[in-house]
Amino acid sequence: MIRDYADTPVDRAFVDRALDNAVRAPSAGFSQGWAFLVLDEPDDVARFWEVTTTPGELPDSWLRGMQTAPVVIVPCSSKAAYLQRYAEPDKGWTDEDEARWPVPFWHMDAAMASLLILLTAVDEGLGACFFGIPPEHEAATREAFGIPADVDPVGAITLGHRRDDERPSGSPTSKKRKPLSELVHRGRWTS
Ligand SMILES: Cc1cc2nc3c(=O)[nH]c(=O)nc-3n(C[C@H](O)[C@H](O)[C@H](O)COP(=O)(O)O)c2cc1C
Repeated sequence: MIRDYADTPVDRAFVDRALDNAVRAPSAGFSQGWAFLVLDEPDDVARFWEVTTTPGELPDSWLRGMQTAPVVIVPCSSKAAYLQRYAEPDKGWTDEDEARWPVPFWHMDAAMASLLILLTAVDEGLGACFFGIPPEHEAATREAFGIPADVDPVGAITLGHRRDDERPSGSPTSKKRKPLSELVHRGRWTS
């Protein structure tokens, strides 16, 4: 995750490639219940930060860095798309009961698509960061960009060129990656 960007615009072809890759993500029942709000004009990006932050609050270093990104993508998920897809004859859950879902696959799939945007950035030598939109700013974000009520933003992704003087940032600077021995349970959880 890159949280501070070079002052270089991002070619629209890159953004399009990232989005093309995003929609190759797997999705439950091939529901494809995702959508992407793309903000790549300076005024739109400025509006994004305006509505997702608290007026009058001085930006911290995280926000100052993130605000240098020329592109913000807001991946969204549609629960309705999944309930409707799984009510189709080949699935048959015509009651559209949400309790049938072990986890919200609509959010999972939008997250998988988001990962492909992040990986496209890596592939192209650019930088990106997935982050959350604070719940208290969600309504203002919806209002500012006309996000319909039946889709939910799952977060946001900044995109931009990496700085020459880039430094490591975020939690990995203070926390160690957990070893596989702690995380992998082969055959059985406990020995
Ligand atoms: C669901 C999710 C939410 C995240 N939210 C934020 C965030 O709000 N701000 C941020 O700077 N990074 C955020 N991150 C990035 C993580 O901090 C980052 O992935 C983690 O520290 C590991 O670093 P790396 O991805 O650079 O290896 C988020 C990542 C995920 C997957």
